[in-house]
Amino acid sequence: METAKLSLQGKDYELPVIVGSEGEVGIDVTKLRGSSGAITVDPGYGNTGSCLSSITFINGEKGILQYRGYPIEEIANKLRFVEVCYLLIYGHLPNNLELEDFHHKLTHHSLIHEDMKKFFEGIPPEAHPMAVLSAMFSSLSAYYPDTGNGEDVDLNIIRLLAKAKTIAAFSYKKSIGQPYVYPRNDLSYPGDFLHMMYAVPAEPYLVSDVLEKALNMLLILHADHEQNCSTSTVRMVGSSQANVFASMAAGVAALWGPLHGGANQQVISMLQKIHDDGGDYKKYVAMAKDKNSDFRLMGFGHRVYKNFDPRAQILKKQSDKVLTELGITDPMLDIAKNLEQVALEDDYFVERKLYPNVDFYSGILYRAMGIPTQMFTVMFALGRLPGWISQWKEMRSDPKGRIYRPRQIYTGETKRPVVPLEKR
Ligand code: SDX
Repeated sequence: METAKLSLQGKDYELPVIVGSEGEVGIDVTKLRGSSGAITVDPGYGNTGSCLSSITFINGEKGILQYRGYPIEEIANKLRFVEVCYLLIYGHLPNNLELEDFHHKLTHHSLIHEDMKKFFEGIPPEAHPMAVLSAMFSSLSAYYPDTGNGEDVDLNIIRLLAKAKTIAAFSYKKSIGQPYVYPRNDLSYPGDFLHMMYAVPAEPYLVSDVLEKALNMLLILHADHEQNCSTSTVRMVGSSQANVFASMAAGVAALWGPLHGGANQQVISMLQKIHDDGGDYKKYVAMAKDKNSDFRLMGFGHRVYKNFDPRAQILKKQSDKVLTELGITDPMLDIAKNLEQVALEDDYFVERKLYPNVDFYSGILYRAMGIPTQMFTVMFALGRLPGWISQWKEMRSDPKGRIYRPRQIYTGETKRPVVPLEKR
């Protein structure tokens, strides 16, 4: 096995090297502190692998994204979201029997306890739905507590996946003062969500095939993305043996940030602002480049993708297709395309390898579905839930798993005596 050699304070060390199935190379520093007393320092963890994982592979230079070895381009066009949930969580594509059983379980666990509806009554209508989702996810542990001989993880995973769309749709209905629409067992996962969002007692709501297919693809494209901020949070919280509901609630909180999943909501606000400001997108590109302005081109840039985000490419095509099929012209799409074109030709963005990411076009599709901007990040969370669950399950099933506890380099005051108050 190849090793990495390190010279430090006059001593030489050899560190093991790990090579992944796709050729990624990692230096194993698990014994570094014990042998040298030194630690590594990597703020933002841009160069640090937190784990070995067999779930998702990303090659940022080549714009490759694979779930369990299957390319995202194939998955997005050939699979149902429920199949992708199964693939990520259990490691293989389900056969007919497995899929039928999984779908049946998801369908028959989609109700939330009637008492949980009281939670919504105490939440102000204008509350951000990510606050609701995180609180409700965590509250599920009150209804499905650890059974004492360990959490019934597989059943709780089903419960969480099944109830997430119900909670999301109920939070929307609550925010607009409409009655809750209960899940239906005869609809697909995305179709049932659309029905719970838009059906009203006065008239039947027919789920549009175009929107159902578009939502199916959106959920799939968001399903997992290896060790991103929210997934790392889920792993971190789960490593303390916290239950699955609390761990996923933490993932929702991390995803909410505008630099992460919250960017999709910010993109539409940015496009709207450019539109309301006469559509002068070049002015905003200039602002994004201006170091004195804190304006960023939301939906642009990525820690890993340095040529293109394959999900953004798929969503750009899908936006055109869905808007045409629905007969919608959305000026935001034209502004988005113009922004992308200008940025791709501008040295500032080219030098920094800034390209549209998954959040840049997703909002266009959510808008076409009539989903309010405040709900965009909830949509991201619904898609990402199977990814969080699969990563959490992988972390928890590691026999050598340890609590996540990074170290630090202390730069504060060295030891000094306490000065009494009268002498300060
Ligand atoms: C997601 O990690 C994942 O996989 C995340 C995700 C997933 O599926 O889980 O893909 C989902 O979170 C996508 C990202 C959504 N966020 C945004 O769109 C927000 C806008 N983008 C950025 O804030 C930024 O690009 C990040 C947060 C995405 C990445 O941040 P990094 O890797 O820490 O990069 P950085 O902030 O250090 O930027 C490097 C340079 C800086 O300029 P210099 O200091 O070198 O002069 O690029 C500039 C930044 O100022 N820059 C931007 C920019 N993004 C980076 N300049 C203008 N507009 C931007 N959007």
